[in-house]
Amino acid sequence: MKKIVTIIGARPQIIKAAALSRAIKNHFQNKIQEIIVHTGQHYDANMSEIFFEELNIPKPDYNLNVGSGKHGEQTAKMIQGIEEILINEKPDALVLYGDTNSTLAGAIAASKIHIPIVHIEAGLRSFNKRMPEEINRIMCDHASTLLFSPTSTGYKNLINEGFKELEEGPFHIDRPKVYHSGDVMYDNSLHFSKMAKEQSSILVDENLEAGSFILGTIHRDNNTDIPERLTAIFEALLEIAKEQKIILPLHPRTKKKMNEVLSSNLLNQISNCNNLQMIAPVSFLDMVLLEDSSKMIITDSGGVQKESFFFKKPCLILRPETEWVEIVEAGAAHICDADKNMILKSYHEFMVKPPQHFEGIFGDGKAAEFICDEILTCL
Ligand code: UD1
Ligand code: UDP
Repeated sequence: MKKIVTIIGARPQIIKAAALSRAIKNHFQNKIQEIIVHTGQHYDANMSEIFFEELNIPKPDYNLNVGSGKHGEQTAKMIQGIEEILINEKPDALVLYGDTNSTLAGAIAASKIHIPIVHIEAGLRSFNKRMPEEINRIMCDHASTLLFSPTSTGYKNLINEGFKELEEGPFHIDRPKVYHSGDVMYDNSLHFSKMAKEQSSILVDENLEAGSFILGTIHRDNNTDIPERLTAIFEALLEIAKEQKIILPLHPRTKKKMNEVLSSNLLNQISNCNNLQMIAPVSFLDMVLLEDSSKMIITDSGGVQKESFFFKKPCLILRPETEWVEIVEAGAAHICDADKNMILKSYHEFMVKPPQHFEGIFGDGKAAEFICDEILTCL
């Protein structure tokens, strides 16, 4: 029996972890024991608790209840808590997802006490080190032993950074193994989309007609914290809302920052705009149904960009660059930054000519099983 400790903390990690926990439950129950540690980075019920029951994720064995804070303060508390757990649990490996502060904390804690790290969603790069996530993911990749990249671009990024294409073990932090594994979030979208259609009542609750609205999400720090950028995004959304209903499940960071950085005039226009419907963060099944039923998606989220591709929807990316370059190259997404004119131009282009190519970039829907198999074989 291999014992793994999984670190989760932010919303997308809780969702990603569902795929591996499901694969363990269905295929590796007698071979892998999973201990789940929640750092408490996200803690509102609709950013954390809501997902556990709905996605059938085992409840965390530990919760560090770290909460929000400055980068150093938050990460330091996590490192301390994770180190303690790793010393007590003595796992064969630590599983980390993505690029949040919870990921970085896990990477530092485990590598210093020589516990092999499995990094899921390895190799992604924005080549923009002003993003906290870019720092987190580079540091984590370079402390890992098994690196699973969801895309071929991610795999190539690792090779370009000096990772070798090794077949024969032993594998360890100085001799890591890199994979192009496919994306566990694609596994999840396939698994949960039917369930979403059967169980979610979000369209009725929000009075939405399938195919007749645009879905938006905003939460990146360089959008929420920079007044000119958040202003440009909302001005563009107000312009589009003259023609289309837009539904915007608001991340708590954005809700808080809007009131701080937007002018009272713009806040008034937003609250008087019936077509711009802001709601609290929704459950994953609700989100999947919203994505699947939308006509277009406008987002700065990494996860939501990909899901727009899974559900064959055009996507306007509210960032200056993306790690998911394949969806832009396929013509399914446009990089619009926080530029009002670019957002409106791409919106009009996609309304007239929706993208046609949504070929498989993200694997075969069995990435989590593949990862479990490799953990058993290589560690
Ligand atoms: C974090 C990740 C980001 C990821 C995002 C997913 C880092 C550096 N950033 O960003 O990569 O895309 O999660 O959603 O790890 N807040 C609440 N309730 C919560 C959680 C947060 O009110 O449950 C508010 C707090 O004011 C907090 C702010 O949101 O200060 C930001 O939270 P934080 O976890 O630091 O970063 P995110 O912007 O959520
Ligand atoms: N998501 C959700 N409810 C919401 C908004 C997003 O369940 O109200 C899901 C979304 O479907 C995706 C993940 O959360 O799977 C993305 O998380 P987020 O945008 O917070 O972070 P990122 O992917 O940018 O790191």
